[in-house]
Amino acid sequence: MNIIKVKDYAAMSEKVCTYLIDKIQTLDNPVLGLATGSTPEGMYKCLIEKYNKGEVSFKDVLTFNLDEYVGLEKNDPNSYYFYMNDKLFRHVDVLERNTHLPNGTAENLDQECKDYERVIRDACYVDVQVLGLGLNGHIGFNEPGTPFTSRTHVVELDESTRNANSRFFDSMEDVPAKAITMGIETIMESKEIVLLVYGEKKADAVARLLEGEVSEDFPASVLQQHDYVTIIADEAALSKVGNQILNK
Ligand code: GLP
Repeated sequence: MNIIKVKDYAAMSEKVCTYLIDKIQTLDNPVLGLATGSTPEGMYKCLIEKYNKGEVSFKDVLTFNLDEYVGLEKNDPNSYYFYMNDKLFRHVDVLERNTHLPNGTAENLDQECKDYERVIRDACYVDVQVLGLGLNGHIGFNEPGTPFTSRTHVVELDESTRNANSRFFDSMEDVPAKAITMGIETIMESKEIVLLVYGEKKADAVARLLEGEVSEDFPASVLQQHDYVTIIADEAALSKVGNQILNK
């Protein structure tokens, strides 16, 4: 794994932004895997700024988001559909038909999961998947214990994940109990993965990801088995990682 250590959140956002722009400009029909949460917000702001300056166009870009809550309507400010429009899509020239998120209000959720897999396959898989990191090591919404062979599926969210995400909702009861997420195997099929982490509160998780054993108990550890992973993390997030790993 290639580790890029940056000073702080702003530097992480700028670094991944220019990294993605470089990919968008090099690939013919770039397929980006996108994440939500607090971590990529600065990256989206930076992408909009560069778009406004004419430094990047999204007209040939396809996007696939990692996950979506079950039961939230598209116009619900806490749905990831809303987030993506608010934070990126409506500000740039990406074509709506080229943007994809699992539909958390589909009548048949299992069918929705299968359809999502099919559309990713039809697009010849994700070129660059951006990931955040959950405190318990989740990637997408793949909670500890999820098989590494999982495909897009419906998950029961961990209490700790619902707690962590409750800051966006009026109350804990409003946080959905379920979500649809790309599976771990689906994520691992991405040709390249960029994991973003910042802040001291993720330091233990980053150390476990880099130094711990590969185990389904800590989903992000699977990334040790991917051939092309770049971690862009700030000093605080890397503060518990030994020098022998950082200087490798
Ligand atoms: C959320 C999302 C993940 C995200 C992670 C970290 O629950 N489903 O895709 O990467 O948790 O979130 P944050 O960036 O807000 O710390």
